[in-house]
Amino acid sequence: MKKIFLSIFLAGLGINISAQKSIDQKVTELMAKMTLEEKIGQLNQYNDDITATGPITKDADKAGQVRAGKLGSILNAVGTKNTKNWQDQAMQSRLKIPLLFGQDVIHGFRTTFPIPLGETATWDMNLIEKSARIAAIEASAYGIHWTFAPMVDIGRDPRWGRVMEGAGEDTYLGILVGKARVKGFQGNGLGNKDAVMACAKHFAAYGAAVGGRDYNSVDMSLRQLHETYLPPFKAVSDIGVATFMNSFNDINGIPATGNKYIQRDLLKGAWNFQGFVVSDWGSIGEMIPHGFAKDNKDAALKAIIAGSDMDMESRSYTNHLAELVKEGKVDIQLIDDAVRRILTKKYELGLFDDPYRFINEKREKEQANNPEHRKFAREIGSKSIVLLKNENQLLPLSPTTKKVAIIGPFAKATVENHGFWSIAFPDDSQRIVTQFDGIKAQLDKNSELLYAKGCNANDNDKSLFAEAVETAKKADVVIMTLGEGHAMSGEAKSRSNIHFSGVQEDLLKEIAKTGKPIILMINAGRPLVFDWASENIPTIVYTWWLGTEAGNSIADVLFGKINPGGKLPMTFPRNEGQIPIYYNYYNTGRPAKNNTDRNYVSAYIDLDNDPAYPFGFGLSYTTFKYSDFNLSLTELKGNLTLNASIKVTNSGNYDGEEVVQLYIRDLVGKVVRPVKELKGFQKIFLKKGESKTVSFNITPEDLKFYDDELNFDWESGEFDIMIGTNSAQVQTKRVNWEK
Ligand code: BGC
Repeated sequence: MKKIFLSIFLAGLGINISAQKSIDQKVTELMAKMTLEEKIGQLNQYNDDITATGPITKDADKAGQVRAGKLGSILNAVGTKNTKNWQDQAMQSRLKIPLLFGQDVIHGFRTTFPIPLGETATWDMNLIEKSARIAAIEASAYGIHWTFAPMVDIGRDPRWGRVMEGAGEDTYLGILVGKARVKGFQGNGLGNKDAVMACAKHFAAYGAAVGGRDYNSVDMSLRQLHETYLPPFKAVSDIGVATFMNSFNDINGIPATGNKYIQRDLLKGAWNFQGFVVSDWGSIGEMIPHGFAKDNKDAALKAIIAGSDMDMESRSYTNHLAELVKEGKVDIQLIDDAVRRILTKKYELGLFDDPYRFINEKREKEQANNPEHRKFAREIGSKSIVLLKNENQLLPLSPTTKKVAIIGPFAKATVENHGFWSIAFPDDSQRIVTQFDGIKAQLDKNSELLYAKGCNANDNDKSLFAEAVETAKKADVVIMTLGEGHAMSGEAKSRSNIHFSGVQEDLLKEIAKTGKPIILMINAGRPLVFDWASENIPTIVYTWWLGTEAGNSIADVLFGKINPGGKLPMTFPRNEGQIPIYYNYYNTGRPAKNNTDRNYVSAYIDLDNDPAYPFGFGLSYTTFKYSDFNLSLTELKGNLTLNASIKVTNSGNYDGEEVVQLYIRDLVGKVVRPVKELKGFQKIFLKKGESKTVSFNITPEDLKFYDDELNFDWESGEFDIMIGTNSAQVQTKRVNWEK
């Protein structure tokens, strides 16, 4: 009877028990035939020679190693021709176990989309899921089985260049984005030819590296780890993400790769994760410089015990695991468990039925330049844009403006629009729509688009300033494109100074002296500091790195085809001294009374307390009025549902979208609670003049937190319920909620 219920339940989850059983059996049978060396081979992943983010080890005969069954997976092997060559080698091995091809497909593949931080600014999970879906369709057509995404690290430090790859600073939003991306990549489930395995990375707390320096240490309370950094990982594990990647950092003194607590006890134990864990690039071997392992053999021992299943590029497993097993230091069951996890995924992908099922030249050609995908890239690009200032309503710009000048190092950007983590294809420069081209295409045919580069992104050369100033003088409106080059945010791209690099700000000041109206567009992979611009330029648009269709997406917003509705997923600091900065901080015993209060309070004596732009912030060409905030109850007991509603009216002149945000504060706790925490949001569309009542249901689930003994529960007491247009502008009502 129990069995029947179980199968009905599993069928409801889309899991076919008999298929699962037979995969288990097949894996068992296959493993019975494998030698120890062949098993260890499955735990081994090498880089193809194309691209690399870490030190490369050259192998004399990689193909020979594949034929000898010493390799389970290859990363950075792209394209049907290349992957076919490798798979041919694997088919010559004794047991013909297919290779897995992994790749960093981070924000699109042939069609690139906004960087994940930019996409998060849409606050639209359907769009985010679709972007990952398309990336999977394209990547799988190029022979790829597995993407090393999504990165679900919480990022509160914009000096850390990898914030571009994640969903920003907030755990709640990070959970939703992580889940949407996993669903998109894995589509209708592994086994479909257009589904790739997703990989939750970097496990764990990589975003909290000291000083925003990549690869650095993380030292934090377990409570903080569980409350802020782990939930997005747990959430994607719960929905069946196929793989995890561990991280380079140590956590409280133990490198993540050798960290048994997080990998074996939590992930594979308490969370019951069924997939496998790949190390980060060389991170097993890097436990030596960490000072955690004395040599590669010791590193292999510590990593396998801790639960790292596959060794990316350090060769510790292939060189030492067999010896460790023979010496009795590593239990064969640990190896078997890792092999089983990896083989199971290969079966689930259907690779044992047909090792070449992702290798189809026709499909590859079809996905090389898919117009539908480009159309979508244009849409998600424009929806990722955040309007930071529009004081004089210079935007939207009329396409009949007689003379428009576009000035700045990114005006004719191609690869810069891709951003970090994109694969360079030879036809990129013809495919990527530049800002210049996008704007030109929408300007009236009787109007003129002038151009001057003005300066490079990152040097001290001012020789092009004079020409840029002359160009500005001829124009009615100047669009300036400043920001970061594509290799200025991303892995190993930590910056101590996140102001505009080089002489970009000087150029802006020179152009501003002409008195011409300026629209400043900022292309960047992270929040930058641009305090002078914020004070002096009335119109600022944050465009991130938008991908293949960047120029069209930008033009759609500038000319008002799309009314911008993006909201910041990270707090923008006034300057680097405020970092780390995030909206859900603790109040402290001496909170500042206001923005300029510096009188023996927790503040800087030389800086205002608030950020340049708060989390959740973003303007529209229209305005939204919030009124009639209403709570269904103010005194509650037990497991009730509290309804909070508010009326939002489009009070401006354009139809538009608004993200209505719900925050909660627990006023007194067993441990101190943040001043507010995002607990819900709704993205709504309102026609000009239209109103809608937005309502949120709040239950005790939303009030739970980790206490100092890691119990996850809620407490009786008072709570502030806040609703507003961003984390700083909210209306507040208080409730008393008893258990
Ligand atoms: C990065 C990972 C990436 C891997 C493979 C590492 O350096 O940290 O995020 O997936 O390289 O490219």
